Amino acid sequence: MEELLELEAVAVVCTKCQLAATRTQVVFGVGDPEADLMFVGEAPGMNEDRQGEPFVGAAGQLLNRLLSEIGLNREDVYIANVIKCRPPGNRDPLPDEIDCCKGYLRSQISLIDPNVLVTLGNFASKLLLRTETGITRLRGRRYPWWQGRLLIPTFHPAAALRSQQKLIPEMQKDFELIREALAVPRQRPVVIPPQPAQMNLFA
Ligand code: URA
Repeated sequence: MEELLELEAVAVVCTKCQLAATRTQVVFGVGDPEADLMFVGEAPGMNEDRQGEPFVGAAGQLLNRLLSEIGLNREDVYIANVIKCRPPGNRDPLPDEIDCCKGYLRSQISLIDPNVLVTLGNFASKLLLRTETGITRLRGRRYPWWQGRLLIPTFHPAAALRSQQKLIPEMQKDFELIREALAVPRQRPVVIPPQPAQMNLFA
């Protein structure tokens, strides 16, 4: 999709924030630009910074496995992060870094136009749901989101790996929700066109 490629061309040379000085490369996003399902993680880690692709390390392997369990491949979905450049030492992204970067994510979502968005972990979930509630309380259900999309928050795969497998069954339940949500027709908002004055009896 041409517009997405144009956006990527702008993003890969971005110097809007200080992360430009320490990154190896911008990690814009990967996958089917017309996917019905889009994942949003936090920020690239060391492997992603080296390879230029989101979720290529151990967390990415778990993501691929969970996808395959609901009959999907990585190539069928689109995967991006809130922040496109690796924060040094994998620290949390700073508010000004998010401010500089969030326009890229917003445009990616508009252009890809997925029916279902999945936020991985606290960071993306709190940002896209505009809440301070943590992922443990947020997950396990789907939320109506912007322009009739459904948003499903789940744990970050890296957190699931650190949990000694405890969180993986919870993620599998969330992936079942994803599978079900993909079968639900999108409820696009109804836009009522302005009526000519003579047709409006109360004008
Ligand atoms: N963690 C993330 O949030 N994103 C990646 O791309 C890799 C690890």
